[in-house]
Amino acid sequence: MRLKSKICIVTGAAQGIGAATCAKFAAEGATVIAVDRRAGVIEGASETFEVDITDRAQVDKMVAAVLARHGRIDVLVNNAGITKDARLVKMTIEQFDDVIDVNLRGVFHCSQAVAGTMCSQGSGVILNASSVVGLYGNFGQTNYAATKFGVIGFTKTWSRELGPKGVRVNAVAPGFVETPMIATVPEKVLEQMREQVPLHRLAKPSEIASVYAFLASDDASYINGTVIEVSGGMTL
Ligand SMILES: NC(=O)c1ccc[n+]([C@@H]2O[C@H](COP(=O)([O-])OP(=O)(O)OC[C@H]3O[C@@H](n4cnc5c(N)ncnc54)[C@H](O)[C@@H]3O)[C@@H](O)[C@H]2O)c1
Repeated sequence: MRLKSKICIVTGAAQGIGAATCAKFAAEGATVIAVDRRAGVIEGASETFEVDITDRAQVDKMVAAVLARHGRIDVLVNNAGITKDARLVKMTIEQFDDVIDVNLRGVFHCSQAVAGTMCSQGSGVILNASSVVGLYGNFGQTNYAATKFGVIGFTKTWSRELGPKGVRVNAVAPGFVETPMIATVPEKVLEQMREQVPLHRLAKPSEIASVYAFLASDDASYINGTVIEVSGGMTL
């Protein structure tokens, strides 16, 4: 029970890695606040909020409600993210803007909304969802790669700014994970992805959730400003 009584906000909680993170955090004893733009029942969640993280007013309202009820916020997992892929020459401004809005601006909104509280508490953890694409780039993902590199910039900057106040900030860079996000990938490409990984399989969402749980817990009390790659060794 490494997260006993911790008040933890998880964004993008309705499915995939976010849903697995809610379940894992609940199993570790956390009070889980599940945030998603789609409503629904989320396993392990104590409360759910239908929030579009690109809308600052909605984010602020959710954070105010959490503080009114619980009086503190211990962990924020900035997991919500989207893809809208196209090669550079084909990418529309709308595709570019949509991905920047959720994956960068949304992460900024949520983090800024909780940072003051965490600093006054003298403790807190912010975890950002990067990707191997945020370390190495990827064909067809100009917008997504920019955001996943960008959240590493957030991580390093905020760990310097908030570290002195007792707040740790880290990022996780998953490889390929079996979630609805990759549901549209053709089987032939999935097979190539599996071949690329020394473990010869994709990650389960729970295998990313476990790393978030570790980083959120006091077991990671001296880990700050880092990026943990969870890719089965695909980039070796
Ligand atoms: N699946 C992978 O292979 C993989 C690999 C590396 C990194 N990631 C990252 O991990 C995170 C989760 O990925 P996933 O595969 O579980 O994604 P997913 O598409 O399965 O789920 C994302 C969730 O985020 C929610 N969401 C999207 N936009 C939102 C918004 N504006 N406000 C609130 N909620 C919003 C969606 O409704 C959805 O429930 C993402 O940031 C993704 O970039 C995923």
